[in-house]
Amino acid sequence: MAGEVLAFGPNCSAEFALHGGKEKSVLVAGGAGFLGSHICARLIAAGRRVICLDNLMTGSLRNVRELAESRNFCFRLHDVIDPIWLDEPISEIYNLACPASPEKYQRDPLHTFQTSVRGAENLLMLAQAKGARILQASTSEVYGDPEISPQQESYRGAVNTFGPRACYDEGKRAAETLFYEFSAHRGLEVRVARIFNTYGPKMAHDDGRVVSNFIVQALMGQPITVYGDGSQTRSFCYVDDLVDGLMALMASPPDCSSPMNLGNPGEFTVLELAQKVLAKTGSHSPIVFSALPTDDPRQRRPDITRARERLGFNPRVALDQGLDATIAYFSGVMGSISEPFKQVS
Ligand SMILES: NC(=O)c1ccc[n+]([C@@H]2O[C@H](COP(=O)([O-])OP(=O)(O)OC[C@H]3O[C@@H](n4cnc5c(N)ncnc54)[C@H](O)[C@@H]3O)[C@@H](O)[C@H]2O)c1
Repeated sequence: MAGEVLAFGPNCSAEFALHGGKEKSVLVAGGAGFLGSHICARLIAAGRRVICLDNLMTGSLRNVRELAESRNFCFRLHDVIDPIWLDEPISEIYNLACPASPEKYQRDPLHTFQTSVRGAENLLMLAQAKGARILQASTSEVYGDPEISPQQESYRGAVNTFGPRACYDEGKRAAETLFYEFSAHRGLEVRVARIFNTYGPKMAHDDGRVVSNFIVQALMGQPITVYGDGSQTRSFCYVDDLVDGLMALMASPPDCSSPMNLGNPGEFTVLELAQKVLAKTGSHSPIVFSALPTDDPRQRRPDITRARERLGFNPRVALDQGLDATIAYFSGVMGSISEPFKQVS
């Protein structure tokens, strides 16, 4: 099916492509996932035309169900590993297509690596053909298990090239290289966000990341599984703040094209997070400790000075407030959750 894009949904007719007037669309690759669906919703709310392209590997149509009623929204089922062509004029591309949870991206490491590298190249070629600006959802994982904290964009990282996380970490690093080569040699307007741990409503209940897992485990009365002794730290950014940052970066002037950290610099141990979740849910789940996964980073904290200065990025949602909203979301969807799951931080 190379080159073809299967489209469905009430607004994915040729009409969308041909009769959209002069207005260009925004393509959100990975738009049915956690972050992508929030971006699609924001863009639709702002009156933009949105094409959501996804292979539904870790995303879900449920995440974009409400948007399908909008005349400005179109969903297309496609794997970014395959060449992409769309007839519509496109002004901006967000590349969020990649599983983000270690449990999910380690299921098919070759596909994850190809998604990061070949998928990025396919989207870059589309951006070139359309004259579109393109934003890459890169990651704090490019810093690996960092030797310095907080991590500034100038830090080059300590990454294992062949460990179980390498398919993701090195794939994302290679994707950054591709972005900057397309910028230098083909004149593309690129933006690269290095996203730090982000959480919020619409995470999949079986996603495998620490915030959603602790909440779902607590709500289901299952043991909360903490790896190691729980003293490893993470910085948790609420999704609304992150989306503000991504959209500001997309709209930023050309001198913002070098990588930009986006996240919330507040730092918490994983054990503190577990205790907060237990207190907020009123759960009596016990905390159980198990071995740390290979290459699990000890510490993660973004230095967001650049994003503050250049984008006015200022995360506002405190962890307590964001957890309340996320717990309320998972409480609402608990009826559909029944299977046990594993957790990776
Ligand atoms: N959420 C975070 O904390 C975080 C942190 C750093 C980086 N990121 C990056 O942000 C992006 C989105 O992350 P998320 O948390 O929303 O994850 P997610 O798994 O919820 O979303 C990823 C989406 O991409 C789709 N996808 C995966 N492979 C694809 C492929 N080959 N072709 C087409 N679609 C594909 C999935 O089906 C899913 O809808 C990812 O690129 C991730 O690496 C996220």
